[in-house]
Amino acid sequence: MKIIVIGATGTIGKEVVKLLQANGHEVVAASRSSQPSVDFTNAASIDAFYNQVEEVDAIITVAGDAAFVALDKLTDADIQLSLQSKLMGQINMVRKGLSKLRPNGVFVITGGFLAYAPAPQTAMITMVNAGLEGFAKAAALDLTEGRRIVIVHPPWVAETAAAIGMDASPWPSAAEVAETYLQVVEGKETGQPVFVEGYAPA
Ligand SMILES: NC(=O)c1ccc[n+]([C@@H]2O[C@H](COP(=O)([O-])OP(=O)(O)OC[C@H]3O[C@@H](n4cnc5c(N)ncnc54)[C@H](OP(=O)(O)O)[C@@H]3O)[C@@H](O)[C@H]2O)c1
Repeated sequence: MKIIVIGATGTIGKEVVKLLQANGHEVVAASRSSQPSVDFTNAASIDAFYNQVEEVDAIITVAGDAAFVALDKLTDADIQLSLQSKLMGQINMVRKGLSKLRPNGVFVITGGFLAYAPAPQTAMITMVNAGLEGFAKAAALDLTEGRRIVIVHPPWVAETAAAIGMDASPWPSAAEVAETYLQVVEGKETGQPVFVEGYAPA
């Protein structure tokens, strides 16, 4: 399959790219620093990107920022970032990518386990992850000719946990998380949230 990966240089994204390629898929690796580049917080940048790529069998977004800030400290800018980047960035990649996804193709978007297990300071991230799940559930009903959409909710990734000084031992590596992206690309699910094996909410 030919597959676009937005966020291809990220902690999870680079492992997704590696695994897809190892399984014989052709990858268009994209981010703000790729060629062609895409900044999915900017509608014109998304249009310009899609104008430069051919039709594909899968469009994966594994990118997007959302504020990790306590409710009483949230600024307007934190809220705007969360909506514009992780939420609307991924929604616009799907909406504007409809004509680039072949029949039977799949959109894969990325949420996070906080949608099911909120913690203090995660009102924005939790809201965005849950919003993306709602989008995927309903958007699946509008897709035609066998096209699918799936949201992956990764848990903490060990590399990220270590980088922010948390205990990384309970969490899967980015390479293990990437297996879930490969499974949904090659699978049949649509409209439903998918979790890394062993990390589904109880
Ligand atoms: N890591 C975790 O523990 C974890 C857990 C649950 C959910 N998630 C979610 O998984 C996604 C990826 O996380 P990550 O930790 O792998 O991220 P990361 O290491 O920060 O990498 C982000 C990737 O996205 C690209 N990117 C960032 N902003 C972009 C934009 N506006 N337009 C296009 N590309 C953009 C970056 O490349 P450029 O800078 O070149 O654009 C990079 O390739 C995020 O949505 C995150 O919320 C992560």
